Amino acid sequence: MPKLPKNLLIKLENRKENNSFRQLPNPNNRIDFSSNDYLGFAINETIYSDTFKLILKNGASQNGATGSRLLSGNYLMYTELEEYLAEFYACESTLVFNSGYDANLGFFSAVPQRGDVIFYDEYIHASIRDGIQLSNAKNYKFKHNDLEDLIKAIERCRNGNVNQAEPAEVYIVTESVFSMDGDSPDLEALVNYSRKNNYNLVIDEAHALGVFGLNGEGLVQQKNLQKDIFARIVTFGKALGCHGAAILGSEKLKDYLVNFSRSFIYTTGLPPHSIATIKAAFSYLISQEGKEARLKLEDNIVFFNKKIQDLKMNDFFIPSSSAIQCCLIPGNTKVKKVAAKIQEKGFNVRPILSPTVPEGEERLRLCLHSYNSKEELGLVLQLLSSYL
Ligand SMILES: Cc1ncc(COP(=O)(O)O)c(C=O)c1O
Repeated sequence: MPKLPKNLLIKLENRKENNSFRQLPNPNNRIDFSSNDYLGFAINETIYSDTFKLILKNGASQNGATGSRLLSGNYLMYTELEEYLAEFYACESTLVFNSGYDANLGFFSAVPQRGDVIFYDEYIHASIRDGIQLSNAKNYKFKHNDLEDLIKAIERCRNGNVNQAEPAEVYIVTESVFSMDGDSPDLEALVNYSRKNNYNLVIDEAHALGVFGLNGEGLVQQKNLQKDIFARIVTFGKALGCHGAAILGSEKLKDYLVNFSRSFIYTTGLPPHSIATIKAAFSYLISQEGKEARLKLEDNIVFFNKKIQDLKMNDFFIPSSSAIQCCLIPGNTKVKKVAAKIQEKGFNVRPILSPTVPEGEERLRLCLHSYNSKEELGLVLQLLSSYL
């Protein structure tokens, strides 16, 4: 086997020295406080069997899409799913991507143009950062969930541009539930500000889908703000328990993405099985059983937050009403040690290390699920409090 170049070996060694070396974990049977399967849909037997019924009903018993959707890979179930999603999400149009990573990469690399400016929350997901890196637009970050800082950043940009043309378009991007913090921005204030100034607001709803909204549509629809959002990104690999993603917006935005979004164009479409699973998962989400799962999750989130108060652990936790709850334990070595101790007791909790989060903000990230029992929620917090 040819050897890995020396400069790459050095980078790997550095990771080991910083205690941030990543390795694929072995499968385990610990109690799940780690997966994004907030509602248990990934292991739901009804969704599993409904998927096969849908495939048979649609005469789509083929293993793969056979090509890009612009060539041989588009089929009826795809377009039917996109029509269904447009109604569910109360928007003009939707376009399904192979993953949330692809959707963000495809959106940000294609939509903001040279001369435009993107303002992004400093804690934005890596897929959005990577998309922005591929864009010809200028980009600036603003402090996490800080509208004042965003306004200042935009003013700074405008003042620095006195001799140049005004930016043609301004894009503001944030998440409705932050993946590594579990908290949310003031969406109403962001929408008001963007609408007043004619800016394009883009919201990644990856961790809000299935958790917020009357039918689990997300936080944007829970707050009835959908009409004022330029684009929403929803992903199906979290609470929906399957795979894929969609960009929600106008008809013209869809046309544009189909023509210019490279992560949409230059890749094989999803197989019929994936599309059928997404459709079956949405049908389950709006069913009585789906509603019960969402209520259980909601109840668990309230219970968990109450326990944090009871155990006087508020100072360690980032306030969150979502399924993602984070306990700050600064230092890679320390947070790994606490995680290992709790794992030994049978709980699957994961440490989030720097550089994934800023140095000094390392944390234990606990994902809550509809299927976690109250006893498990109480026990994991008691254990954690004894190690802090
Ligand atoms: C906020 C956010 N956006 C996008 C993604 C990417 O989604 P996917 O896992 O479908 O590629 C993630 C996944 O971690 C995420 O947390």
